[in-house]
Amino acid sequence: MSQIEETRQEALGELESVITADALSQWKSKFLGKKGVVGKMFGQIGGIPKEERAAFGQNVNALQKELASAFEARESLIQAQTLAQDLEEGEIDITLPARPRQMGGLHPSTRTHREFQTIWADMGFQVYQSREVEEDEINFTMLNLPPHHPARDMQDTFYTTNPNVLLRTHTSPGQIRAMRELGENGTKPIRVILPGMVYRQEQVTARSEYQFTQVEGLAIGRNIRMSDLKGTISEFAKRMYNPNAKVRYRASYFPFTEPSMEVDVECFLCGGEGCRVCKYTGWLEIAGSGMVHPTVLRNGGYDPSEWSGFAFGMGPERITMLKHGITDIRYFWGNDLRFLQQF
Ligand code: PHE
Repeated sequence: MSQIEETRQEALGELESVITADALSQWKSKFLGKKGVVGKMFGQIGGIPKEERAAFGQNVNALQKELASAFEARESLIQAQTLAQDLEEGEIDITLPARPRQMGGLHPSTRTHREFQTIWADMGFQVYQSREVEEDEINFTMLNLPPHHPARDMQDTFYTTNPNVLLRTHTSPGQIRAMRELGENGTKPIRVILPGMVYRQEQVTARSEYQFTQVEGLAIGRNIRMSDLKGTISEFAKRMYNPNAKVRYRASYFPFTEPSMEVDVECFLCGGEGCRVCKYTGWLEIAGSGMVHPTVLRNGGYDPSEWSGFAFGMGPERITMLKHGITDIRYFWGNDLRFLQQF
């Protein structure tokens, strides 16, 4: 035991006079190295009388720990001193330009989605993530698109090797899933948006890609009327584009809404006066929408004689393109850093 204490004093004493990195590493191998003083002590354990062995072992362990942490403290002290000295003597040229750091950024589409989500969240809509790989039945049949509907054509839809499983062609199947999963058998109102990627087997051009994103909206309640749909979308447009944004509704058709409307917002680039972007109409189409079809309500578990709702689907890429003057939709998922780094 006294040998341990002596070693301890000796080691710490020597350490105090160590001022260079070389001397420090010599000190380390002398005391803490494989064949160092402490290592040898561990080797002696076998020769210690049994009753003292445990205590001896513990003390050597403690000594090793203490010396190791004293070493670390000394090491960082020496490093700091060396650095300070180098700086003083001008060995480090602090005028050299730093190497530029690659910064990650948010994808332009992600940015628009975040803007959307913030606005819809403020208006009481919760984000509901539905799935990208979907059942044929939910993507189509449950939305009132019967088996012979042309949208199911192989030309439009990516099917998996299982003909009942496909990549969703729109975010609307999320309506069925949200109603079934949040509606508690048609007893609870719902207010959600469903953002995400959709896929269509299309000829890829500057204006159409086989993947893009949509933001679906769905509100189900006991007294929801068309005026609620119009008011809600108009409010969104004001928050998204400008506080005076005008919105207009055109009659349209979707199998899963009745009545259906296309939503236009006054062109935010020319303020409605007419420009190249809005093709001199003064309006930009921002959404498909309508009152949820009674069949769809029923498929979601709701009784359409008591419940009603509205739904809409928006395409954030188009808005992002207009906003940033992006002329080709293929840039979005082409993963070209020269494009992505601009955001
Ligand atoms: N799912 C439709 C589309 O992809 C958009 C839409 C959603 C229309 C909800 C009405 C209601 O074009």
